[in-house]
Amino acid sequence: MSALPAAVLVSGNGSNLQALIDASADGSIDCEIRAVVSNRPGAFALTRARRADIPAHVLEHGRFANRSAFDAALAALLVPYAPRLLILAGFMRILSAGFVSRYAGRMLNIHPSLLPAYPGLDTHARALADRATEHGASVHFVTAELDAGPVLVQGRVAVRPGDTAESLAERVHEVEHRIYPRAVGWIAEGRVECRDGRIWMDGAPLPAPVRL
Ligand code: GRF
Repeated sequence: MSALPAAVLVSGNGSNLQALIDASADGSIDCEIRAVVSNRPGAFALTRARRADIPAHVLEHGRFANRSAFDAALAALLVPYAPRLLILAGFMRILSAGFVSRYAGRMLNIHPSLLPAYPGLDTHARALADRATEHGASVHFVTAELDAGPVLVQGRVAVRPGDTAESLAERVHEVEHRIYPRAVGWIAEGRVECRDGRIWMDGAPLPAPVRL
């Protein structure tokens, strides 16, 4: 079987991108990252892509008149790479419903919380403010509603006394780098599918997110 063609959308540091690049390169997942696109020109993720000889594109959202113009340009940019999976890895921009439906069941995101808890921003600070005892990260399929698509896998961390948003973020990042390649690997192996808003794993509906 040939490797799963994928493209990765980024906005920042790209440590999740790096985890996916590394897992693809060492053969632990059968994925070919064909392109990386950032909406921010200064994103270090672009450097990571170039170091790995992956075409790296910048599409500055500020240069587009509106969201649908940006999304149309993004869709056009991706066409030649024919990604079967679109991977959002720290992509800090909401995609329009039209764009999302084009990639329905073929777009993944990673979010730094145990969804449905804490969609949106500042998840670590919010978990601390609530005195949560557990926190973590979720990999989910993307739907038009922000951070609300079906969750495939979650990784948990215990909140420790004295944790700050930074210390918690660091441990959540480690979890992210572990679970995101696993999720992509399952899709590459054909073990996971998302149809009509429902995740199937090994031929059966997934009753709850996999815990890793
Ligand atoms: C991660 O915490 C991810 O969950 C969130 O954005 C952050 C991206 O980090 N969506 P990086 O750019 O992959 O290092």
